[in-house]
Amino acid sequence: MTEILRYLEASHPAPHPLLLELEQHGRKDGIPIVSRETGRFLSVLVHMMQANRILEVGTAYGYSTLWMALAQPPAGKLWTIDPDTARTEVALTYIRRAGEDDHITIFNQDALELLENFQQRNLDIVFIDADKAQYRAYLDLVVPMLKRSGIVVIDNCMLDGRVAAPPSPDDDADVVAMRAFNDYFLSHPELDATILPLGDGTGIGARIR
Ligand SMILES: C[S@@+](CC[C@H](N)C(=O)[O-])C[C@H]1O[C@@H](n2cnc3c(N)ncnc32)[C@H](O)[C@@H]1O
Repeated sequence: MTEILRYLEASHPAPHPLLLELEQHGRKDGIPIVSRETGRFLSVLVHMMQANRILEVGTAYGYSTLWMALAQPPAGKLWTIDPDTARTEVALTYIRRAGEDDHITIFNQDALELLENFQQRNLDIVFIDADKAQYRAYLDLVVPMLKRSGIVVIDNCMLDGRVAAPPSPDDDADVVAMRAFNDYFLSHPELDATILPLGDGTGIGARIR
């Protein structure tokens, strides 16, 4: 952790106890979750927008889900997708303990299949954190679901910095996919988009047309 990150981490109050527990649980089981600073960023966005309608692609143990759900207004709704039932069963235990189970719907299905038929529109926020090779396809499907000025947030735009390194024949498929995705995302005609050096590289795009 750099000096700046250490300073910032020490300056914030501790996260909700269930989020702390989830961080430890994810670490113990080797489950990839967003960084704590990305979680906080999501929480601020949800509060800022009073985001009632959120879609998440990639639930895992529900760490990012809970950061967003805890910041939603009381009538908020959050739909989250992950085909891995073993992971989402764990997510559900935390969601229940947080008293958020009435507001969150988990779909155990491949996101592309589900999104083809997903009926919800006027979404405030879509958060994408799943199969890197499919990010472009997710984006194409979710942008029309956003309300005007709704935002799409993308995790892992930098893949531990490997995306920004000079291209090499040894680059793995995810790095190659994320480079192509980032170019596509940043020039998307319906989005005003940027990538922040936050967490593992956080894309954020507002729907402008
Ligand atoms: C990085 S984890 C998500 C972490 C979670 N957002 C968090 O921060 O707590 C990525 C998840 O995407 C899920 N995933 C992989 N392929 C998927 C697909 N085709 N559709 C939906 N989810 C998928 C995996 O099962 C995995 O649990």
